[in-house]
Amino acid sequence: MSANQQKLNAARAAMEHIEYDWVVGVGTGSTANHFIDVLAESKDRIDGAVASSEASAQRLGEHGIRVLGLDQTGDLPVYVDGADEATKHLHLIKGGGAALTREKIVAAASEKFICIADSSKLVPVLGKFPLPIEVIPMARSYVARQICKFGGRPVYREGCITDNGNEILDVHGLDISNPVEMETRLNQLVGIVTNGLFANRPANVLILGEDQGVREIT
Ligand code: A5P
Repeated sequence: MSANQQKLNAARAAMEHIEYDWVVGVGTGSTANHFIDVLAESKDRIDGAVASSEASAQRLGEHGIRVLGLDQTGDLPVYVDGADEATKHLHLIKGGGAALTREKIVAAASEKFICIADSSKLVPVLGKFPLPIEVIPMARSYVARQICKFGGRPVYREGCITDNGNEILDVHGLDISNPVEMETRLNQLVGIVTNGLFANRPANVLILGEDQGVREIT
């Protein structure tokens, strides 16, 4: 089965966690796009959505789903989003689509974070996928030098400006055997807006599309 079909199956399975009249937090990327399309089939069941990016807000709007701001809604019952890598401990790397900051905000404000992914995203240890870090533009070189001291190799993502007007460093070669500790260390560096480790606030459920069907890890 293709990765795309696995993503779609995971997105469909996530719908079983959505209750009537909820405002749903919605992520960014190709898997989240499947979820938006599936959500649109039941749009009369929900009260609206909060998007983690301009791109997702636009897709939701095109489907006629009411898009709300987090300031209007307060905390959300659920957030559904993809990931670049996930472990069975539900720690994630996110930000391949540069939306990590808003994703982390919506995840933090949600009671339940459902991660949907194809089976290739499940890894024993995080870090083969370079860790995205959103930086304030004037801090980019400073942050890059600090990251080198952590043992990472930062690469500037050319031509990428985030929805927040910032830049992205993709960090290769970091030892992320302890994701909570690494996320916390990176959080201390001035100039970093957000790092793409979702470990202090992991997913609550990982729904993986697999060849045999859909598997939920909690
Ligand atoms: C967006 O910034 C990311 O966090 C995405 O959730 C992640 O890159 C997964 O993307 P796909 O669903 O396209 O694989």
